[in-house]
Formats: sequence, C-alpha cells, structure tokens
Amino acid sequence: MGTREPLHDREVLRYRKRPRIVHAMLASSFLLLLLSGLVILWPALSGLAAGGWTRWLHRVGAVIFMAVPFVYWFADRDGAKELMVDSFKYDRDDYRWFKRFWSYAFGHTANMPKQGRLNAGQKMHHASVMLLSASIVASGLIMWFFMPSLGPSLQAWVVVIHDLSMLALTLLLVGHLYFTFVYKALSGMTRGYIDADDARLEHAKWVEELEQEAAAAAEEETTEKV
Ligand code: HEM
Repeated sequence: MGTREPLHDREVLRYRKRPRIVHAMLASSFLLLLLSGLVILWPALSGLAAGGWTRWLHRVGAVIFMAVPFVYWFADRDGAKELMVDSFKYDRDDYRWFKRFWSYAFGHTANMPKQGRLNAGQKMHHASVMLLSASIVASGLIMWFFMPSLGPSLQAWVVVIHDLSMLALTLLLVGHLYFTFVYKALSGMTRGYIDADDARLEHAKWVEELEQEAAAAAEEETTEKV
C-alpha cells in the first residue's frame, strides 16, 4: 500500500497508518471506559463488578484514553495539528451544509454545498470529542485523586459533569457510526483508502485540491524530463 499514490482513478488515500492506529487506540479505550463505567454506575450490572476489577479496568482505559493526544502528537504532528485547526474552522459552505443537515442525514447529497477534507458535521463531531474528552478527563482525575478532600455538593457536581459528558460522547458515537456506514467511510480507517466517487460526493473541495496537486506534480515531472 505504501507505494500507491494518494489519488487513483477509483480510490483516495484518506488516512495513513499512524492516525489509523491512534484512532483505534481512541475508539478501544473509549469503549473500555464506557463498558467498565456502565458496570460501576448501573446497579443492575453491579454483580459484574465483584472484586473491584471494573474499577481497575476503568483506570487502565483512562490512562490509554489520556495518552491519545500525546501519542497523536508524537506519531503524526502535522495530522494532529490539522485535526485541531480544521475542527474549529468553519466557512460559509459549512454553515450552508448545516442548514441542509437533515437531508444529508437521510443520505441525500445532491444539493449539499461542496466540502473540504472534513465536512461540517465531522468538524462539529471532532471538536465536540475534544471538548467533551477534556471535561471527562478533568472530572475523572478529580474523582481519582482529590475526591475525599471535596465537600459533598462539589463531589456530586464532579460526578454529574463526568457522567453527562460521557453520555454526550456516547450519543455522538451513535451518530459517528451511523454516518460511517451510510457514507461508506469505514475503509478509510481500516485500509486507509475510500472509494473516489464517495470521496467526491462528500469532500468535493478536498478531492479537487488533491487533483490539482497531482496535476502540478505531473507537470513538474514532465518539465524536469524535457
Ligand atoms: C468504535 C467504532 C468506531 C468506528 C467504526 C469509527 C469510524 C471512524 C471513521 C471511518 C473515521 C474516518 C472518517 C473520515 O473519513 O474522515 C473516523 C474518524 C474519527 N473518529 Fe471514529 N470511529 C469509531 C469510534 C470513535 C470514538 C469512540 C471516537 C471518540 C471518542 C471517535 C472519534 C473520531 C475522530 C476524532 C476522528 C477523526 C480522526 C482524525 O482525523 O485523525 N471514533 N472514525
């Protein structure tokens, strides 16, 4: 795969290996936190928590989850920066895209404004993941290390913030999975490539940029040969 070009007739490189590994780390640690957290929180599942292993597993998940931004930074600094900047930068097409969100949600892309590498919904999702994760990590660390020194009402607030942030991130995950399958994006995170037609449908501006870059590179190569 390493020798394949970013842009083919039929496929486009969406994610290289390192961001895919970071995403797998994020997704698996989140699922571990969610499942072990449910066992801790939900009385109906508390029988599974015997021996305190879920509390231990929850902390293992938390350490991996907290390591994700650092691993991303060291493994693929440009990718991490791009993700942070792109997720919080919206243009006019993004606002027009939001207006047509419901049509897009039901699989209609015909009149959607052209989108860049991330569509407006992905930007919103990724930005929310960053902010909610920060809230989960901060409240989680307080619970882990400082809980006994807090008064009862502050303790209750920390728990509420932690649980609501986790709930919001779980609801976002449902949407994330829905769009992954409706718009056939999964292969971008498994093999790294997505179908070029799907890419054009969802990220037309980005594909146009890639095409221009490829054309410029080809022209440069021809000039060098002459
Ligand atoms: C568990 C199953 C999951 C699947 C199948 C999945 C699938 C995907 C796919 C296909 C993409 C690439 C979309 C594109 O083409 O741009 C993606 C990106 C992303 N996902 Fe997930 N995801 C999962 C879990 C999660 C979870 C739990 C989170 C957050 C807690 C998450 C956060 C993200 C973020 C932030 C990106 C952007 C990554 C980057 O640009 O480096 N995902 N996901």
